Amino acid sequence: MKLLILNGPNLNLLGVREPDIYGRQTYADLCAMIRAHAKEIGVEVDIRQTNYEGKLVEDIQNALGRFDGIVINPAAYTHTSVAILDAAKAVRLPMVEVHISDVPAREDFRRVSYIRAACAKTITGHGLNGYLEAMDFLKKTMS
Ligand code: DQA
Repeated sequence: MKLLILNGPNLNLLGVREPDIYGRQTYADLCAMIRAHAKEIGVEVDIRQTNYEGKLVEDIQNALGRFDGIVINPAAYTHTSVAILDAAKAVRLPMVEVHISDVPAREDFRRVSYIRAACAKTITGHGLNGYLEAMDFLKKTMS
């Protein structure tokens, strides 16, 4: 089983970026956690981060036929991007939405999630562990 792990803008700044909200672990720490967990549960992972909306759209499009499922944290594009939602709807791969912070407890503008409509599950506010939970969910539902 191959999972694509997609991260949107500013997630490369984990550890530096608003540590009171996102914690002190870095993006490299996140990748290491995901790789270790993938090994543990026996899945292959490809982990990517981009600050560009179009790149997320292309990565989702290109996942068709190459990956069995997607874990996505679109970051700020969660709240704005119909293009990312449409790409997800087009490929129809099993997808889980992850947010590190407790999004519903933050500003009102973060309450809207476009991608949610294409996701089997949303995990929010579980910190970096949310990614691992998303991987477990996909593994369980797809095997
Ligand atoms: C985030 C929440 C978003 O509202 C924010 O724009 C992010 C990160 C999260 O992981 O908590 O960049 O997706």
